[in-house]
Amino acid sequence: MSGGNKDNGTMDNRTTDNGTIAFALRIRDGATIRELRAEAAPGRTVLDMLEAARSGGAAVPAYRHSCHHGSCGTCGAVVNGLEALMCLTSAADLAAPRPRLPGGPAVPPELDDDGAVVVTLEPLSKMSVVSGLAVSPGPVFAGIPAGVSYLAAVEDGGRAPLPPDPEGARAEGGGGPADDSRWRPAGRARFEACIECGLCVSACPVAVPFIGPAALAAANREREKRPERARAMLDAAARPDGEGPCGRHLACSRVCPQAVYPGKHIQLLRNALGRGSSGGSGSGGSGR
Ligand code: SF4
Ligand code: FES
Repeated sequence: MSGGNKDNGTMDNRTTDNGTIAFALRIRDGATIRELRAEAAPGRTVLDMLEAARSGGAAVPAYRHSCHHGSCGTCGAVVNGLEALMCLTSAADLAAPRPRLPGGPAVPPELDDDGAVVVTLEPLSKMSVVSGLAVSPGPVFAGIPAGVSYLAAVEDGGRAPLPPDPEGARAEGGGGPADDSRWRPAGRARFEACIECGLCVSACPVAVPFIGPAALAAANREREKRPERARAMLDAAARPDGEGPCGRHLACSRVCPQAVYPGKHIQLLRNALGRGSSGGSGSGGSGR
C-alpha cells in the first residue's frame, strides 16, 4: 500500500504502486470468521477476489454464483453491513465511502493495521445458511403467487413487426400447458426486472410473518399486467402476512440491484386496496 491514512475516504491513498487495492476479507463461516488477504484492481469485484483466492488454493467459505454480471441473482451477501451482489461490488466501491446500512450515510472504509480495506462478508438474513455465505433462497420464492408471468411488455421502438409466435399460439389453445404463467403480452416481451436475488428480503427489518417485498412486487406487477387476475393478487396482498406488516422502511428499494422498487409496488397495492394512508402494523424494526 502506498498509503495507510485512516482519516479520509479517497481511493488514491489505498492503491499500491501497481494500482491494486489491498483488502482484508473477513468472511462469516458459521460461528467463525475467516480472514483472507487479497489485492485487486479497482474494477475487480468481491466475487473476483473470492474466485482468485479459491483458484490460488485458499480455503474459502462456500458462496453461490453463476453469471458474474448481475443477472442470475445468486451471489447476494451482506457486504460491510449492506446487502449487495458480490459480482457488482467493486474494489473501488469498497475503497470509497459507502453506507453501512440501507439509506445510511456514506462512511469511509475501515483499514486494518496494515492499511488494508476491511470487508466483512456475511450471508443474507432470513434465509437458511447452507454453508459459509451460501443460503437457500426459499423465503424469496415462498410468497410469490402461483402462476405469475415472468414476462413484461416492451415498447416496439419503431422496429419491424415480429413474426407470429408459435409458443403463444400453443398457449392460446394449440396444445401447450394450461399454465397461467404462459401468459404473454402482445408484441415484444422481456423478462421482468426482478432476478429473485433476495437482497430486499434480507434488508427488510420487518420481524413478523410477512411474504416480503419481492413477492408483493411480483403480485402488483401481475395485477397491473393481467386485469383478470387483479382480484386474486389483491386478496394475496390483503392477507395478514401481506402488505400490512410493511413499515415503509424502504430498505427493499434501496438495496434492489434491478431498480424494481418493491416499496413502490407495496404502496400501489395499498392504494388499490383502499389502504393507501394506513401505517404498517407490525414492523418490529428500527428504520433499516
Ligand atoms: S425486488 Fe430487487 S432486491 Fe428483491 S429479489 Fe427482486 S431484484 Fe432482488
Ligand atoms: S453471479 Fe449472477 S448475479 Fe452475481
